Amino acid sequence: MKALVIYDSQFGNTKKIAQTIAEGYSSEGEVEARHIGDVQPDELRGLSVLILGSPTQRFRPTEGTNDFIKAIERDVLSNTKVAAFDTRLTEEEIEKTGILAFFVRIFDYAAKPIGDRLVKKGGELILPPEGFYVGGIEGPLLEGELDRARSWGEEILHAAQG
Ligand SMILES: Cc1cc2nc3c(=O)[nH]c(=O)nc-3n(C[C@H](O)[C@H](O)[C@H](O)COP(=O)(O)O)c2cc1C
Repeated sequence: MKALVIYDSQFGNTKKIAQTIAEGYSSEGEVEARHIGDVQPDELRGLSVLILGSPTQRFRPTEGTNDFIKAIERDVLSNTKVAAFDTRLTEEEIEKTGILAFFVRIFDYAAKPIGDRLVKKGGELILPPEGFYVGGIEGPLLEGELDRARSWGEEILHAAQG
């Protein structure tokens, strides 16, 4: 079950999560983690599983992530199982910045819109979108998040086989 974990990352945290998701998946599957800038949307054709992740920036995926999804042609994901993730601040950090807390309640995080848009492109969402927590804008990832990422990669593999 060939899979790609594609990520965007400004400070490296989403990259670490992506690589760890790939490790979790790869105990049995064939998988690579690649930066979004190194993948052409057309390479997704024929892929069994696509896992796409982005840092949450201004309540949304990064522009690079949005542009990448936009460039996927409609039929490319018709036989592909998809999953989406993001990295995000904890609620505690968000509460410290009153304005951000207000907007987060309205706009949420990046993973859900990524999942929704991959489904619109024909992909089949196999697990609910997932978020992984950083302790500040530049990180670090909170303790336990890499373990959670590894488990999530394993869950994706099982759901894809199911
Ligand atoms: C311009 C900018 C806007 C951000 N907006 C949000 C936000 O709306 N919600 C949130 O939870 N985190 C927000 N963050 C924090 C990012 O989620 C955090 O920088 C990211 O998870 C780090 O991942 P990276 O190391 O892969 O870039 C923002 C960060 C930046 C730089």
